[in-house]
Amino acid sequence: MKTYLVVGASGSIGIKTSELIRTNNHRVIKGTSKKIEGNRTDSLYLDLTDYNSITKLNEFGTPLDGIVFAAGYEPKQSIIEMSMEHQNKMIQIHVTGPLNTVKALLKNLKEDAAIVFVSSIAANKGSYDPMYATAKGAVISLSRTLAVELSKHKIRVNCISPGLVEGSPVFNGMTTDFREKHINNTLNKRLAKPDDCAAAINFLLTQEHITGQVIHINGGQYFGA
Ligand SMILES: NC(=O)c1ccc[n+]([C@@H]2O[C@H](COP(=O)([O-])OP(=O)(O)OC[C@H]3O[C@@H](n4cnc5c(N)ncnc54)[C@H](OP(=O)(O)O)[C@@H]3O)[C@@H](O)[C@H]2O)c1
Repeated sequence: MKTYLVVGASGSIGIKTSELIRTNNHRVIKGTSKKIEGNRTDSLYLDLTDYNSITKLNEFGTPLDGIVFAAGYEPKQSIIEMSMEHQNKMIQIHVTGPLNTVKALLKNLKEDAAIVFVSSIAANKGSYDPMYATAKGAVISLSRTLAVELSKHKIRVNCISPGLVEGSPVFNGMTTDFREKHINNTLNKRLAKPDDCAAAINFLLTQEHITGQVIHINGGQYFGA
């Protein structure tokens, strides 16, 4: 049995990823920024915006076979509306928080462990929220550079990059017109499902010869109308 930390395990992609890992008879430790009641070994408090919470990971003793970073902060502000607080939070949750988490948990990662990040189609297509697109572009760069750096520890690092995910909070907050626009831009006329993302994450966790890669889960949107 392997043990994986899933950061953002209560999110739409995190839930399905955790389910799939457990279906394969492995253990999931749920990373959450919500306060944890009691002494639970299946959950780990981790607030990616709080450096103290990340440095406390030095006390975390469980060996890990992998980490999935599926936490997120959704696109919210255009360039006109944008605050410094928003910019900082976007980078902390997607980039600096995960980077410092990897640094703190390097001691826990076993040989042959795998890390999977979640970027977004916004990294390539942009977003009305420039900071979201910037952070997601940085996630790909971070993933690829860690693949090189951590190869000396025999750790693989990969990334998925989904288009709009059906049933996610971002999807739920969109008008029907906007959802239709996203669907029409795909070649197969459907959106990514959380299960599609979970399957790709699971593949990257387990496929031992793939590192430094990005799997695009977007129904061929780059080629759509
Ligand atoms: N949804 C989409 O259409 C879509 C498309 C492309 C890429 N993505 C990316 O996919 C990832 C997951 O998306 P999703 O739709 O599954 O997100 P989601 O349902 O909104 O879940 C995000 C999770 O992030 C965790 N989180 C929030 N703030 C945190 C913090 N400060 N520290 C640690 N964890 C925190 C939350 O868990 P707790 O409350 O337990 O902390 C939450 O469950 C994100 O990175 C997102 O950008 C999403």
